[in-house]
Amino acid sequence: MTTSALRPVFAILSALVEERAGLHYGPAEQDLFLERVTTRSGEAGFESLLDYYYYLRYDPAGPRELEELVAYLVVNETYFFRELEALRLIVGRFIAPAVRAGRRPRIWSAACATGEEPLTLAMLLAQDGLLEQVELLASDISLRALDAARTGSFSRRSLRGGHDPELAQRWIREEGGRLRVAPALLEAVAWRQVNLCAPEDTQTIGECDVILCRNVLIYFRDETVVQVIARLSSQLKPDGALFVGVSESLLRFGTALSCEETEQVFYYRKVS
Ligand SMILES: C[S@@+](CC[C@H](N)C(=O)[O-])C[C@H]1O[C@@H](n2cnc3c(N)ncnc32)[C@H](O)[C@@H]1O
Repeated sequence: MTTSALRPVFAILSALVEERAGLHYGPAEQDLFLERVTTRSGEAGFESLLDYYYYLRYDPAGPRELEELVAYLVVNETYFFRELEALRLIVGRFIAPAVRAGRRPRIWSAACATGEEPLTLAMLLAQDGLLEQVELLASDISLRALDAARTGSFSRRSLRGGHDPELAQRWIREEGGRLRVAPALLEAVAWRQVNLCAPEDTQTIGECDVILCRNVLIYFRDETVVQVIARLSSQLKPDGALFVGVSESLLRFGTALSCEETEQVFYYRKVS
């Protein structure tokens, strides 16, 4: 079928994906979007994209299938020690002082994909003897990604960003060509399914000292980013901080959070 003949089905499917998961696809991305949807719908046993659309929208199992589809649309690109300076700052500037003050701080890694980000945080916390004093939550919309995280088994690509030799040696070992993370780290993380575009999901998290929402906002259109940031802000404690990816700035959205910089790491603080 020609690109123009597929436009109506692209319009309804991409609108549904955006409504449910926030992911935005403009006309220029039609071919890429439909290629991925066609792959997934074929695997799920659908011959027509329109049937697949009706299933996603109206079948009771549609929401579950939509999560599967998201895994095909978004690359679960993540790796250990990614943007490590920010993670070190979180531990040193926000978590250690809270523990010293006698509190049990909470960290939420939202959109954690296959878990390398919260597991790196767990390594840093353990290195400073803080892991047991902290509540560490990690979530993603994709159950498939969370299931992969929980196995503790990763491909070598999960170290593609380079590694911190001391932490890697202590917590990651190679076994049959795979990387295996120490069970103590996996157990320290509470894994949850959360759709950042579903207020009923985000509200259940509770107040956090630090929220990480890195490398996912790029998939959302501006209005969605504003809504997601407002939701995340409402889950931050006063003086808590939100960290986004290094290539994602919130400044043009006019957020109520205050943008601050420490040791060349930018973050957004809820000023009390
Ligand atoms: C590129 S990964 C980012 C992983 C990690 N935060 C990092 O920076 O390495 C983006 C993740 O966002 C998740 N995602 C996409 N839309 C989402 C939504 N509406 N709610 C929660 N997670 C979502 C995807 O499933 C994917 O795992």
